[in-house]
Amino acid sequence: MCDMGHAHHHDHFGFLVDTPAIRQLIAETQRLSGEIADVAARVDALKPAFAELLASDGWLPDQFASPDATSRMGGAVGQYALYRAEDGSLCLFSLVIPPGEETPIHDHLAWGLIGIYRGRQDETVYRRTDDGRDPARADLAIAKQQTLGPGEFYALLPPADDIHMVRTVSAEASVSIHLLANDTACIWRHRFDAASGAVTPFRSGYANAPCPEVETA
Ligand SMILES: [Fe+2]
Repeated sequence: MCDMGHAHHHDHFGFLVDTPAIRQLIAETQRLSGEIADVAARVDALKPAFAELLASDGWLPDQFASPDATSRMGGAVGQYALYRAEDGSLCLFSLVIPPGEETPIHDHLAWGLIGIYRGRQDETVYRRTDDGRDPARADLAIAKQQTLGPGEFYALLPPADDIHMVRTVSAEASVSIHLLANDTACIWRHRFDAASGAVTPFRSGYANAPCPEVETA
């Protein structure tokens, strides 16, 4: 229970940013998750509520829309938990990428929605051309490239479109909002080197909340 230093476990779960707009989206996600078993149909049904959050102002505090100099992803890319389900089944986070910076190529391993709140991002989506048998290697080919601005979003339905990298192409930092069906920053996922084919286990971490010492999800 108290394996996170002075702070209690439950302080880092639930609504880390508690605003009506965030509560509304999480409630709608929980409602639709109970009602719609098919993940693709569920994600489709969630789109209006997600679009509404992206279109709203005043719910994201400035510190969760600022770069993080201590980033484990590099490039001062900041990842901030806004909501985390205690059972690891859902999270909402902001990702802040300074101008000209980019994420590594990475996967997510969960369904979800990702949308732009501020700035513009180029997204490059990759598909694997190997058989996936070797956990340490992947051959990647570019499947899709797109540029997204405020209010635009896309769905993740792994394994389709689950491997990507994003780069900020606006003069200001981009802020994207991620609703994903895991505790994304705390699970072991993967980063990819497209040139060498190397696959490396990767846990990005949140800037504002610790990960459990032992992953339970
Ligand atoms: Fe991503």
